[in-house]
Amino acid sequence: MKTQLLALLFSSACTLSSTAEINKFIIEPDGKGVAVPETLYGLFFEDINYGADGGLYAEKIKNRSFDFIYPLTGWNAFGKVEIMNDGPFENNPNYARLSPAGHPHKWTGLDNEGFFGVSFEKNREYRFSVWARVIDGGESKLRVELEDPSTVKEGQDKCSAEITVSGAEWKKYTVVLKPSETVYKGKLRVFLCKPENTVDLEHLSLFPVDTWRGHENGLRKDLAEKLAALRPGVFRFPGGCIVEGTDMDTRYQWKNTVGPVENRPVNENRWHYTFRHRLYPDYFQSGGLGFYEYFLLSEEIGAEPLPVLNVGLICQYQNKDANDHVHLDQLQPFIDDALDLIEFANGPADSTWGKVRADMGHPAPFNLKFIGIGNEQWGSEYVERLEPFVKAIREKYPDIKIVGSSGPQSEGKDFDYLWPEMKRLGVDLVDEHFYRPESWFLDGGNRYDNYSRKGPKVFAGEYACHGKGKKYNHFNAALLEAAFMTGIERNADVVEMATYAPLFAHVEGWQWRPDLIWFDNLRSMPTASYYVQQLYSVNKGDYTVPLKMDGRPVAGNKDQNGLFASAVREDSTGNLIVKVANTGNSSQDIEMDFKGLKKNGGYTSVTITTLHSDNPDADNTLDNQDIITPVISTLPLDNITSWSVTLPAETFAVYRFQR
Ligand code: AHR
Repeated sequence: MKTQLLALLFSSACTLSSTAEINKFIIEPDGKGVAVPETLYGLFFEDINYGADGGLYAEKIKNRSFDFIYPLTGWNAFGKVEIMNDGPFENNPNYARLSPAGHPHKWTGLDNEGFFGVSFEKNREYRFSVWARVIDGGESKLRVELEDPSTVKEGQDKCSAEITVSGAEWKKYTVVLKPSETVYKGKLRVFLCKPENTVDLEHLSLFPVDTWRGHENGLRKDLAEKLAALRPGVFRFPGGCIVEGTDMDTRYQWKNTVGPVENRPVNENRWHYTFRHRLYPDYFQSGGLGFYEYFLLSEEIGAEPLPVLNVGLICQYQNKDANDHVHLDQLQPFIDDALDLIEFANGPADSTWGKVRADMGHPAPFNLKFIGIGNEQWGSEYVERLEPFVKAIREKYPDIKIVGSSGPQSEGKDFDYLWPEMKRLGVDLVDEHFYRPESWFLDGGNRYDNYSRKGPKVFAGEYACHGKGKKYNHFNAALLEAAFMTGIERNADVVEMATYAPLFAHVEGWQWRPDLIWFDNLRSMPTASYYVQQLYSVNKGDYTVPLKMDGRPVAGNKDQNGLFASAVREDSTGNLIVKVANTGNSSQDIEMDFKGLKKNGGYTSVTITTLHSDNPDADNTLDNQDIITPVISTLPLDNITSWSVTLPAETFAVYRFQR
């Protein structure tokens, strides 16, 4: 964030910039508001846009166990390489057999292309590991190289090491590599060298040593740090449509993602075939970033975990026939999955599933409080499947809060059918999704003002402003999200959680945009929408504070000059935090009157953070990440009880008043 003195723009001396109409906000800092839930601003993670393998999951080897549909996808074999299928890990049975090429000047080996290249950085350490054996005992040597295929003349090998494999038993071998150069589209090469004997290789893996929190089966540090910096209150995972799958076989099954990584079966990603412009042959889930890792990450970033499970429905867009889905009388294993998951997260270390967690390194419970049943489902087929889940979870785990769905639309027939049904079933939260255009966000400032205060709370589980035409992640979309979020904050007694979506996108592998964080193999970049989310979460406060103009909430209504506003107070500091989005194309003079403040004294300083771009279509790029960033300034105040400011056009501002 940039710090800059904005004394001209933001004056504490009540000198407004124009004689135009003054927008008079009446704010009651000590007035009766509602508690702001800890979970209000959170994250939704899905393995879309190469968000997991090739993204947050730091593994650099694609198809590390040769178990993609085409076993050599991602690999280039030379010499004598065979794929075998009776390996040591029953859920990933394939492995590669490398035999001497049969001539002193011929070689046998494998190159891996990684995810859009195997990238590595100069002087950073990378841990290579492989399971191997020499089939008839004895010894054989492997050479492991990190290469840059574009530098033939200078020599491609940027780092190498040798591993001696011995004995006919499968064993894990590890070596740390430290490249001499930074290479974006590199390769990993593994080949037989003297003494050569036939070796079997399985689960070839390459991780940076320096992962998030140093975990060996770890996460990319820069990406995880960006999540932590959002200070999320909740972390929803693993999707999204991947929960449903393209068909029954490819639905997400959490039990396949726990235990030793080598034995987690590969699954074809639901987004593999989606979107004609991205017909990738290689979008699979290794399961390496699995439910244990999601729970651990939630804990480490201070967010409540919110796993979402399949309700017995496969993607309803892609499967229209009732027989594509699980029949009601065959739902029990799916319900058991939900009950077992709660035991995995919360059960004692000697319970069946609690033991799996403990064996993975976390004997203490993860303290799961929420569970989503079904992703973005709709129709009576959803309701009739959800009902037995609710019954079973209530019976066994009455304290767990259940999240149901209101379908893919933010209003309309399905939505109007599902909300009353969710109330009838007694779920605790209803997951609303809205990927909507600018006009919807502009009109949505009052969306939650009249929601019933009885019954389920709202989880705005997937949302983003989708600009007209070809604009993605542009400033205006972020501004409108900020404007809309004032209504979420004002209604924090109804909305318990809100999570932007999708979270991540690889610049070379996206299926869906806009997204919150873009990255390539070495860099990552917050969007303007990211900064909006962050400005809300770090300024969440504990209680809402009444803020009105002409007796009404400031919610972008017709005579409110494009303004949206909300306010909270923070118990630990006593600070008042006012958020204002000016969505119009002219600056607005605002007078804030702090009603009933005198007994506590006035404010002595204000920290102002603004997000603005002169170009509403501008967005950040990996090469130029500072086009749109928050700008911070602090002004002293003279124990004031009212304060005036001119808020420039198309600007989101957070005013933090300190006593
Ligand atoms: O976030 C992208 C997709 O949008 C999610 O997978 C799905 O739930 C929704 O349709």
